[in-house]
Amino acid sequence: MIHTRGLTRSFRARGETVEAVRGLDLDVETGSVVAFLGPNGAGKTTSLRMLTTLLPPTSGTATVAGCDVLADPAGVRRRIGYLGQGNSASSALRVLDELVTQGRAYGLNRSEARARADQLLAALELESLTKRTVGTLSGGQRRRLDIAIALIHEPELLFLDEPTTGLDPQSRANIWDHILRLHKEIATTVFFTTHYLEEADLWAERVMIVDHGRVIADDPPEKLKADLAGDRITVGTADATDAARAAEVARGLPTVHEVTVEGTAVSVRTTGGDAHLPRLLRRLEDEGVQVSVADLTRPTLDDVFLTLTGRSLRESADADSAPSAMFQGA
Ligand SMILES: Nc1ncnc2c1ncn2[C@@H]1O[C@H](COP(=O)(O)OP(=O)(O)OP(=O)(O)O)[C@@H](O)[C@H]1O
Ligand SMILES: [Mg+2]
Repeated sequence: MIHTRGLTRSFRARGETVEAVRGLDLDVETGSVVAFLGPNGAGKTTSLRMLTTLLPPTSGTATVAGCDVLADPAGVRRRIGYLGQGNSASSALRVLDELVTQGRAYGLNRSEARARADQLLAALELESLTKRTVGTLSGGQRRRLDIAIALIHEPELLFLDEPTTGLDPQSRANIWDHILRLHKEIATTVFFTTHYLEEADLWAERVMIVDHGRVIADDPPEKLKADLAGDRITVGTADATDAARAAEVARGLPTVHEVTVEGTAVSVRTTGGDAHLPRLLRRLEDEGVQVSVADLTRPTLDDVFLTLTGRSLRESADADSAPSAMFQGA
C-alpha cells in the first residue's frame, strides 16, 4: 500500500538547512495498522505530507495506493484519506452540508454523497449535530467530523496525524473505537502518528520509531518491548546484606540481563518476567533470603525509545499537553 525508497525532505530556514526526513524506506502492507512515533521535530508530519502529495520530496521515490506521488498525485489523493495535524479551517457550513460538499469534491453525486455522509455521521456519533455549523463544534466533535471527512470517499488508506491530541481520555477511546471499526468494516489501511504511546501499543500491529528524520526501530510493539526493554522484577529485602545476596542469586539466573541494587531493593531486567518472578522467589527462599515485597513491571514503548536514544518520548508528549494542563489549572 505504501512503498518509499530514500525519501528525503530538507527545508531552508533562516539561511540554514533543516534535514527533516533523511532517507525513508517504507513498505506498508494493505490492511495493516501502522504507528509512526517520534519526538517533536522527528519528521513525522513532513513524511505524511510527502506521502499525501502535499509536499514534494527533495529526493527519493514514493508509491502510495499504487500511484506515484510525483507522477500521479491526483491518483494518490483519490485513494487516500488524510487527517492533518492540528485544527482544520473553520467552516460556516452545517455539519451535514460540509460532509456532502467534501464528498462532491471527490466526484460522488449528490445522493451518493448524502448516503455516505449519513452513514459516517451515524458511525461517528455525530447524528445529533448535523444541523450545527462546523465552527460551533467542540474539539472532540470537530476531530470526529474531520475523520468523517477523511473517510467520505471510502479511501483504501487513511493517514492520521495525531488524531486524538488534546482530547480527553474518553473522547480519545471513542475516536479509536470508530477508526478501528471502519478499519475492520472496509479493510482500510491505517497509518497514524501519536504522542500517546499507549495508543500505538494498543492499536498498531507495527510501530515505526523515527528520530532526527530516520527510522530507528520497526517491529510489532510486543517485539520492540521484549527485544529492547524487557520486563523488570523488583524485590524488597530486609537489609543490605540480603539485597547483596539476592543480587548474586539473580545474576546466576540465565535469563537475567541486568541486576541493580538500590538500598534494600534489587531490580532485575529479564524477558518473560511473569514466568521468572515465581522462579526467582523460589530460588531466593531456597537461599534463605527474606523477600518483603515483589513487583513486576512491563515495559512501555517509552522504555524502548529510552533504550534506543537515551531520551524519553514521554517528555515531548508532556510538553505537548502542558498548555492545556496550565489552562485547566488557571
Ligand atoms: N516549512 C518548514 N520550514 C522549515 N522547517 C520545517 C518546515 N516544516 C518542518 N520543518 C522542520 O522539519 C523538522 C521536522 O518537522 P515535522 O513537522 O515533520 O516534525 P514532527 O515529527 O511532525 O513533530 P511534531 O511531533 O512536533 O508534530 C523540524 O525540525 C521542523 O522544524
Ligand atoms: Mg507533526
